[in-house]
Amino acid sequence: MEGEERIREAMGPRWRHVPVKALKETDSTNLRLKEAARAGRISPPFLLTADCQTAGRGRLGRQFVSPAGTGLYMSLLLPPIKDQGPGVTILAAVAVCRALEEETGVRPWIKWVNDLFVQGKKVCGILAEGISEGIIVGIGVNLRTPPGGFPPEAGLAGALDTEADRFSLAGRIAAHLLSAAETPEDAAWLNEYRERMFLTGQRVRYTVNGAEKEGLVRGVAPDGGLLVSDEEGERTLKSGEVTLGSQSVGDLLYKQPQ
Ligand code: BTN
Repeated sequence: MEGEERIREAMGPRWRHVPVKALKETDSTNLRLKEAARAGRISPPFLLTADCQTAGRGRLGRQFVSPAGTGLYMSLLLPPIKDQGPGVTILAAVAVCRALEEETGVRPWIKWVNDLFVQGKKVCGILAEGISEGIIVGIGVNLRTPPGGFPPEAGLAGALDTEADRFSLAGRIAAHLLSAAETPEDAAWLNEYRERMFLTGQRVRYTVNGAEKEGLVRGVAPDGGLLVSDEEGERTLKSGEVTLGSQSVGDLLYKQPQ
């Protein structure tokens, strides 16, 4: 079976009408969807995958290392999502966790807001971008360690080191995310995110208006923000990134039941 057929098969009958394109190589699947949607060549929903990206993009202007034969790089164009609910990045994180668990049996942990960790390593990143035609959700999953390992700029990146079929995984992720996008207000999505998010109760560092802060994570707000308390009181972080206070993600996660 060809890749596109395998993806459709894994998406199941409910989502079989969704157009799917599987490329060998592209610059960035997010960028390709953005251009095609803006030019009116595609409309939501639409799924694009690639075996390799030459200019994979991460959050906060970072690069996402995307070599051939080692990962799944996919972008799903969704229709605009209702405002109620925790936001598309939260829904996508849960969708990927569910799909990875079904496909590999491994249970990932979520680091707010969009990183998935397994055994202390970041195995997946999510980049959601809103455009007037809809929302592009880009997902990169490191399935295998590239020959020579990940470059130093990839930070905590690691791989699942699984033989999982990336087409089947792409189909499952897309199916869960399409379902989530239909019912973002369903409390089950946020509850599952909260259960899988390992920062609650931990001290973290973050930046507010350019000032470095350290605070305690209280949980995840209904809109998907991170609830923290520090010397100035309670606040909700809406975007950006937090880093762990005294211990590394690896130390912390190895203490969690897997
Ligand atoms: C992050 O960890 O900062 C987000 C990484 C998102 C990477 C995916 S791979 C598929 C899609 N295309 C891109 O250029 N980026 C996203």
